[in-house]
Amino acid sequence: MKKVLFSAMLLAGFAMNAQAQEFPDDIKPLMSKYTCTACHKVDTKLVGPAYTEVAKRKYTDARIVELIAAPKPEHWPGYPPMAALKVPAEDALKIASWINTLAPKKGAKKKA
Ligand code: HEC
Repeated sequence: MKKVLFSAMLLAGFAMNAQAQEFPDDIKPLMSKYTCTACHKVDTKLVGPAYTEVAKRKYTDARIVELIAAPKPEHWPGYPPMAALKVPAEDALKIASWINTLAPKKGAKKKA
């Protein structure tokens, strides 16, 4: 029963945020500093894919750091290629690990 309540609360939370999820306070400054916001939103497609979609790819944090420095446009058919960006390792890793927090939770049902 507790589980059901918890899920309901989670769902309500998602519904309230469905429109526009904001960048958290510690990530937002990095996003604007490195101009990511010009092309990415948290949960909506802009020029590039939503970070929630990137999170579903289940990259490791290190892999995301690599992909920021050397994007692979073939990962995202239908999108223009992202320009390679120079983000210092420490900041890139912060961004990467935040992106991965957007992934569907482990307990959630997996779709093959
Ligand atoms: C000029 C627009 C633009 C900017 C600025 C930009 N991106 Fe992207 N990004 C894209 C597009 C388009 C894609 C999908 C095509 C691709 O990967 O080349 C993408 C893909 C990605 C991916 C997925 C990589 C993969 O291979 O799955 C990540 C992660 C990412 N961006 C992070 C960032 C971060 C972090 C920043 C800021 C440091 C940033 N992007 C800035 C346009 C942009």
